[in-house]
Amino acid sequence: MRDTLEKLRVSALGELGAAGSAAELESLRVRYLGKKGEITAILRQMGSLDAAERPAIGSLANSVRTDIENAVASRSGALDAASLADRLLRERVDVTAPGKLAAIGRRHPMSIVLDEAREIFISMGFTVAEGPEVELSLYDFDKLNIPPNHTVREWSDTFYITEDESVHLRCQTSPVQVRYMEAHRPPVRIISPGRVYRKDEADASHTPMFHQIEGLVVDRGITLGDLKGTLDALLRRLYGSDTKTRFRPHHFPFTEPSCEVDVRCATCGGAGCHVCKGEGWLELLGAGMVHPKVLAGVGIDPDEYSGFAFGVGVERMTMLRYGIDDARLLYENDLRFLRQFM
Ligand code: DAH
Repeated sequence: MRDTLEKLRVSALGELGAAGSAAELESLRVRYLGKKGEITAILRQMGSLDAAERPAIGSLANSVRTDIENAVASRSGALDAASLADRLLRERVDVTAPGKLAAIGRRHPMSIVLDEAREIFISMGFTVAEGPEVELSLYDFDKLNIPPNHTVREWSDTFYITEDESVHLRCQTSPVQVRYMEAHRPPVRIISPGRVYRKDEADASHTPMFHQIEGLVVDRGITLGDLKGTLDALLRRLYGSDTKTRFRPHHFPFTEPSCEVDVRCATCGGAGCHVCKGEGWLELLGAGMVHPKVLAGVGIDPDEYSGFAFGVGVERMTMLRYGIDDARLLYENDLRFLRQFM
């Protein structure tokens, strides 16, 4: 029995010293010291010993038990210390490490161009007006002298909100002209930037939602020369003093006469390329002298007053400014694209 106890001490101390986790240590403790453990089992056999041998074996058994208890305690302390050290290492905070730089956002290229255009108009004495994006056909079509059979009124062109075609997502910013003139008498000098909607398939030069800036000037004695001078001033300030523009006759129901204004293609300098589809010019805006019927419709006497109006595409303006060759880039929010603008 003395032998068994000595062997037990050696093997227990060896195994305890090598226990790799608190769980392993606990199962060893139970195995050696528990109620059904090996020491207990030996102590139970003490009854079969000679009375003379009992004290010596008893005290040996106690010392083995004490050794095992001490070994459990010291291994447990070592494991705790190791796991604390490990945690401290893992959760360490390096207070001297440089901070993470927060990425700073930039303005969207269209916001840059729109803000610039707004500033240019404000410097010429314009104020900024607003109108609803969900618009009455009355304002977007009827009061703009757009005839009942015009293609723009078709369901394939316009996002109608109501079955009876009386409400739709505005397809141009021009209805703001009417709303403004109904509420204000001349002199009128406003711009109105905003979103417009058309059922166009997205491609390099179209998106079903895009932006326009509407302009309207009404006063006594306003002429086509004022229109030309104002737009030339805008385009020279946006694109540089040597910017070439071209005014082409056109037709809009709400202006007479009407024109479209093209700007020399910045990508090819006029030689013709894929951006301008070989034309050398990019169509940028529509304009004209406000139709007498539109003035009369809002109660302004066309014999006393005249005016000019224009509508310019903000996507086009932006593409021309930065040489962007696909309108969809403006809406994809690809950071590699957006990071190029300040
Ligand atoms: N609303 C026209 C369009 O979206 C652009 C336009 C043309 C606006 C002539 C005007 C204008 O104010 O006078 O195509």
